[in-house]
Formats: sequence, C-alpha cells, structure tokens
Amino acid sequence: MESISVELLAICGSTRAGGNTDQMLQFAAEVARLKGASLKTLNLRDYNFAPSSTCGDCNYRETPCELTDDMALIIEQMRRADGIIYAVPVHGFGMGHLMQMFIERSGVCFLRFDRPLTNKVGGAVIIGRRYNHSNVHSQIVSNLLLNRMIIVGSGFPAVLHGGRPNEVWDDLEGLDSARRMVNRMIDMVRTIKHYLQLTDRSFLTYEEANERTLDKDQLFLSREQFI
Ligand SMILES: Cc1cc2nc3c(=O)[nH]c(=O)nc-3n(C[C@H](O)[C@H](O)[C@H](O)COP(=O)(O)O)c2cc1C
Repeated sequence: MESISVELLAICGSTRAGGNTDQMLQFAAEVARLKGASLKTLNLRDYNFAPSSTCGDCNYRETPCELTDDMALIIEQMRRADGIIYAVPVHGFGMGHLMQMFIERSGVCFLRFDRPLTNKVGGAVIIGRRYNHSNVHSQIVSNLLLNRMIIVGSGFPAVLHGGRPNEVWDDLEGLDSARRMVNRMIDMVRTIKHYLQLTDRSFLTYEEANERTLDKDQLFLSREQFI
C-alpha cells in the first residue's frame, strides 16, 4: 500500500502570506511527505478570479462558466488531485472572504454540472484566533458533501487557534488533529486506489452525472413502489 501514490491538494483561503494558515499547511505537507505522499498548496490569493456574478446564467446552463479568468485552472488542479483539503481562516465570525468567494464561484459556475470531485477524499482545517471555528467547519463539510466527496476527519475536527503569525505552533492539540486528518486522508486514498486496482467494479458511481440535466420525474419512487 505504501507504494501507491497519493497527491493531496490544499486550497488555502488565507489572505496573509506566511500567516498561521500557511504555517499549518507547511506542517501538513511535512506530515504527508513522511507518509510517502505529496501535499501541494494552491493559494487562492495568487489567482485571479471573479466572484460569482449576478447574471444568474448558471441556473439555465448545463455547461461551465465562460468567463476567462483563473478559475478553470484551479478546477483543473482539483480534478487531478486524489484528495483536497480546504484550509480556511475565520474572519468576522465566518469564512474568510477569499474562500467564500471561491466556494460560490467554483460551485455555482463549475462543480454543479458534472461534480468532478465525486469520490475524492476531502478534509477541512479551520484556523482562527478564538471564535466561531465550528460554524465555518460545518459550512465546509456541507460543501464537501454537496460535491459527493468522501470526508475524512481526525476524530475531533481539525480546528486550530492562532491570531498572530506563529501562534499556530503553540496549538499542539490542533496540529495533532490536522496531522491525524492528513494521515487518514492518505490511508483512505490508498485504500480506494488499492480496491480499484483489485477489481474492475465501478466505485460509488450510481448517481447521475449532471444534476442540471436530471429529469425531475425520475427523482421520486411512485407510491406503488414505496408500499
Ligand atoms: C478581518 C479579520 C477578522 C477576523 N475575525 C475573526 C473571528 O471572527 N474569529 C476568530 O477566531 N478570529 C478572527 N480573526 C483572526 C484570524 O482568524 C487569525 O489571525 C488567523 O490566524 C488568520 O489566519 P492567517 O494567519 O492565515 O491570516 C480575524 C482576522 C481578521 C484579519
């Protein structure tokens, strides 16, 4: 199993280079390396992408957004990863705006069509000084579920405390949660890949591919089928 390659991608929602989120992800990358896997960080602050606009076009389309910015590049990197970690700072008692903007635009304009993250392993790490990590964690978990990802946790949610840069290094329990989560994500990816090597059976693919084209009449069992 150790020989099975694992490529994790961390989406970093921090606006501050060298801050606590970056530092936690350096730690997570080292955890992955020690387990023979790779963890690459994609810093949203380095990409140029528009917010989901008010055009409402996506509600009538069956294909992705045609705005030409970096969002398609980001989605492509997510498609290639075996597992994705959302690393999110808490701002104003909620999700930092960069990640919020990313979740809205990527979800509404790209992911909702063919759900390309289906069956990828997903994890969430939330970082803030003190307040409201749990709500942000729930929001990310809902988003992973929406994208049909396989959520892997650490036991306690991976929430870390740190205000000024470097304070995250003092949160040993938080770092330990992140370490466990990364290790378990790697094990889960290897388990899935091992299964797929051993069998030619498809894996959790019974869901329709594009919910935008779904015939809603197919959604419901008839009363006779139910009884
Ligand atoms: C605009 C702003 C709002 C913040 N709001 C919160 C908050 O509601 N709860 C909290 O625990 N920390 C809050 N913080 C603190 C950050 O979450 C904390 O500094 C964290 O380490 C940021 O991650 P970074 O170092 O990667 O930027 C806020 C920070 C900023 C800049």
